[in-house]
Amino acid sequence: MKPTIYISQPVSEKVRQYLNEYCEVKEWRGEDRIPRETLLKEIANVEGLLTAWHKIDKELLAAAPKLKVVSNVSVGYNNFDVQALKERNVIGTNTPYVLDDTVADLTMALILATARRITELDKYVKDKKWEPVKDEEQFFGLDVHHATIGIIGMGRIGEAVAQRAKFGFDMDVLYHNRSRKPEAEKKYEAEYCELPSLLERADFVVMLTPLTAETHHLLGEQEFKQMKKSAIFINVSRGQTVDEQALIKALQIGEIHGAGLDVYQKEPIEKDNPLLGMCNVVTVPHIGSATAQTREAMAMRAAQNIVAVLTGKGAIDPVTD
Ligand code: DGY
Repeated sequence: MKPTIYISQPVSEKVRQYLNEYCEVKEWRGEDRIPRETLLKEIANVEGLLTAWHKIDKELLAAAPKLKVVSNVSVGYNNFDVQALKERNVIGTNTPYVLDDTVADLTMALILATARRITELDKYVKDKKWEPVKDEEQFFGLDVHHATIGIIGMGRIGEAVAQRAKFGFDMDVLYHNRSRKPEAEKKYEAEYCELPSLLERADFVVMLTPLTAETHHLLGEQEFKQMKKSAIFINVSRGQTVDEQALIKALQIGEIHGAGLDVYQKEPIEKDNPLLGMCNVVTVPHIGSATAQTREAMAMRAAQNIVAVLTGKGAIDPVTD
């Protein structure tokens, strides 16, 4: 008999067909995200759950006594209570590798858009404000090429950003990470820095570290003060790695020059968030991995993880801590 799984978010026909070969598939077909109470009811008899974003905690695990695997369609897994999964002997998996280049592309897009004021000036042209002017300086931005990038979190995505920065834009690469990365140091002439030194020296501070208890609010008031006044801050990791109130304050009082943000303390962002009124802040709605090709690859990888566990082969991408 095939194991039963529940899919809480839309997948393509190809992914569904693959899963159907190995599993009885139940899925959420609603327009909106599945409400938590519905999810808790739906998983009462399933052995696998393919999901993203939902909090996988003790309450959810208690509602699914047969559950063996939770497969996240994302590389970040801060929605998992890893300890609770371990205690229940449920395997958690994520989708690394397949999104590295796509997220790195978005990182460079945010760097460029913020430094060269693309969204602000796009609006200016479309608002039909472009007239012959004496003062061209009003359009000036900051150079990206030959500037210094400081990458906080030198994992696979960090390396993909370093590669673009070094070889695409001739940038000097600084990085801060839990452990040294000798290979990356050689490949991208990347220099390891303690956090304060990186913050003092980088023109672009790029947050790429996963959200954990240690990285929660890694950057706060003190850290923004340490950055250059001309620095641009980019966040493509998770909103909670930064004290958002401190970021807002740093931007309001000119402690840093601008920010490019994919992630926020609360998502979707609250309508009255002061970041939305700042022309030196580029905001996008958590789209790091959002291309059709990459999202399909992530869904397929998540599907392969669930099948690997339920067919006894063992997870391809088990999360460990
Ligand atoms: C992830 O997979 O964790 C990314 O944040 C999605 O964009």
